[in-house]
Amino acid sequence: MAKLTKLDDIVSLCKRRGFIFQSSEIYGGLASCYDYGPLGIELKRNVRDSWWKATVRMRNDVVGLDCSILMHPMVWKASGHADKFADLIAECRKCNTRSRVDHLTAEDQEHTEHIDPELAAEKSQNLSDKVCPSCGAVGDFTEPMAFNLMFETSMGANIGDQMKTFLRPETAQGIFANFRNVLDSTRVKVPFGIAQIGKSFRNEVTTKAFIFRTREFEQAELEFFCKPGTDEQWYEHWKQQRYDWYLALGINKDRLRFRDHDPDELAHYAKACVDIEYKFPFGQGDWQELEGIANRTDYDLRQHQRGMRTLNQWYESGGDLSEVNLKDEDDNYHKGPLSFFDDQDNSRYIPYVIEPSAGVDRSTLAFLVDAYDEEEVRGEKRNLLRFHPALAPIKAAIFPLVKKEGMPDIANNICNDLQKYFACSYDEKGAIGRRYRRQDEAGTPFCITVDGQTLEDGTVTVRERDSMEQWRISQDKLLGFLREKLEV
Ligand code: GLY
Repeated sequence: MAKLTKLDDIVSLCKRRGFIFQSSEIYGGLASCYDYGPLGIELKRNVRDSWWKATVRMRNDVVGLDCSILMHPMVWKASGHADKFADLIAECRKCNTRSRVDHLTAEDQEHTEHIDPELAAEKSQNLSDKVCPSCGAVGDFTEPMAFNLMFETSMGANIGDQMKTFLRPETAQGIFANFRNVLDSTRVKVPFGIAQIGKSFRNEVTTKAFIFRTREFEQAELEFFCKPGTDEQWYEHWKQQRYDWYLALGINKDRLRFRDHDPDELAHYAKACVDIEYKFPFGQGDWQELEGIANRTDYDLRQHQRGMRTLNQWYESGGDLSEVNLKDEDDNYHKGPLSFFDDQDNSRYIPYVIEPSAGVDRSTLAFLVDAYDEEEVRGEKRNLLRFHPALAPIKAAIFPLVKKEGMPDIANNICNDLQKYFACSYDEKGAIGRRYRRQDEAGTPFCITVDGQTLEDGTVTVRERDSMEQWRISQDKLLGFLREKLEV
């Protein structure tokens, strides 16, 4: 098992080897914003692809979607985000630092979902013994207030036509807004899911731990629509599917667990939610959310039906969402435009939704942390990333032992052949041992060396990253050998 490492070791390796850089570093950096470098983007792409393969491609009941980040502002009124997607904060009267009240009340148990401010306000009026994390003042806070986490922006160049809207705080709403489009343009029938991967934005009060909590982040979300009454069974199904996905990609079972949300932690749309948590190396080793699996009931589709009926209020208010009150539902809401006609039993209903919602950046961090290892080999320290082959940014590196006797040409040809099938890297610089170490640190499962014997019998040396075992394989068997080992 890879050793539990410190976050600093990961941050340093990520910068040194080009996985992740601080954003705008040449200008001193922009807090909580990060850029993925050449190895990082391959890793993150592999995380996304593995999610997409398991969630969409390998199933017949899920289709994909890619929605725009900017949506009609009424989406956010109907979804509840405009009014309720807030953290309760208090400002320190001494240093003016704003803190999340739930962080003050439970400093060592951070919640990642944003709770209904009304509910939280009831629970945390008394801040008299709470400490300001910035200046240490005790009990000297303003009254708690709700701080909406959506980033506002405006669209349009003409002053008169400018429209206030938001960067999406979750990808899910693009799926709900397209529910009818997908039903009408495909052959899907409930139960079925719509999946999407994309960027979301939240103006978090506190960011955290490298790429763990950032204000711009990527989500992989599935909205799985099912008949009311079958929702609990599908909730269990997706809990297990998602947990197994992490294990199948090599995450250590001892560092993965479920945590049910308490009722006062539930997001405003959820009837039940469970987090899949990973034991990260922050502090003394913290359990933190990788993804939430929520039962959103029929909340969102019902709300959008109400939103559609209320649209004229938005026009009349000149685009001021605070003036808009969603119209009440009539008794026939379950027959509205976002309902589904079930020809199995001729019923019409608004489907319930089970939503597995994963953070791509935090999963990427978990895979990095979990794969990181250090060991001593013949008196020298070796750093390595024991990535599952599906996640490794480079699957095979090809080296000529020396830059002569035609070895670079042979190695280049092998590289060109193999990279038609998977990501490869060619390297001819430096001592062979150092080239192996560089690839170990990048998490490359196999290194292939062209040497003197290659010139005689056409075989190459194949070296495996974790065991450092070596085999001689003839060039014509190399592709088959690697594809079997890499499962690609
Ligand atoms: N869609 C769930 C979330 O963004 O947390």
